[in-house]
Amino acid sequence: MPSYAITGASKGIGREFVRQLAQSPSNTVLALVRDPESPGIKALAQSHSNIHIIKADTTDPQSILAAAEQASSILGGKLDVFIHNSNSVDLSTFSLPPSKVPFDVEATRKFYEEPLKTAVYGGAWATNAFLPLIEKGDLKKIAHITSSMAQPEVILGAGVDYAVAYSIAKAGLNVQVAKYAAELAPKGIKTVAICPGWVDTHEGPKPPQLVEATEVMLNQFRKIEPDLKGQITAEESVSQQLRVIDALDAARSGTTIRARFFEG
Ligand SMILES: NC(=O)c1ccc[n+]([C@@H]2O[C@H](COP(=O)([O-])OP(=O)(O)OC[C@H]3O[C@@H](n4cnc5c(N)ncnc54)[C@H](OP(=O)(O)O)[C@@H]3O)[C@@H](O)[C@H]2O)c1
Repeated sequence: MPSYAITGASKGIGREFVRQLAQSPSNTVLALVRDPESPGIKALAQSHSNIHIIKADTTDPQSILAAAEQASSILGGKLDVFIHNSNSVDLSTFSLPPSKVPFDVEATRKFYEEPLKTAVYGGAWATNAFLPLIEKGDLKKIAHITSSMAQPEVILGAGVDYAVAYSIAKAGLNVQVAKYAAELAPKGIKTVAICPGWVDTHEGPKPPQLVEATEVMLNQFRKIEPDLKGQITAEESVSQQLRVIDALDAARSGTTIRARFFEG
């Protein structure tokens, strides 16, 4: 009866993890969200008795510790798989290249902080809060969702000079995942950073700026993969990511794995 906990489960890839995992009645799935009233996840939980919604902000240590305590009482103190998926970016600086980092300490901190808070600080707080449960679990797996935007061959091959803070935060996350693997190997705990692919997680009609930005990215990514058609669905991405998690063993622990050949 495997158990899973997923952060950032209110929408997008996180909610799709919850949806697919809940299809097996023997799974227990904890959906960690900032707002438990979030309509998409609430509706999913109402139709699946094996989904439990827990309030958790990964950028707030007290919130994530309280979530782990609640998880522990639901699961009897043990968890099999922890998936750290939550992410946040500062859209006001997302399109800027590194030469636009301002000569101002506060403004520079703001430029980098938002994605670091979820990927690196939040990644550590969330992992550490759930570690005692994972240690007692049977599968002992921790997955962090990263991005190929952190990989130099994608940055250089596609010419992606924007998303500076996001890419650096995900690169930091990848290293942190490797550090956890080195630390936790003696306890039999395996960690992995997974690139989910270029996934369409936008809800509702797309504004013209988003359509235009997607087209620009498609043309950039085609420099690496000429046959690329466009974004994949969250359903396709998550089913491939779950295969990566199923196959995770000690030999692969600490690595960054692409769920698909091409990643966004
Ligand atoms: N989509 C892609 O093409 C793509 C490509 C590469 C990597 N990824 C990675 O895949 C993961 C999921 O992406 P997505 O496209 O599904 O993103 P998304 O639709 O923007 O969803 C992000 C999720 O993170 C949650 N979140 C944000 N800040 C949080 C916080 N402080 N505490 C807890 N939860 C928080 C959001 O919750 P709220 O509803 O509360 O805001 C939301 O559920 C991310 O790590 C992303 O970097 C995505």
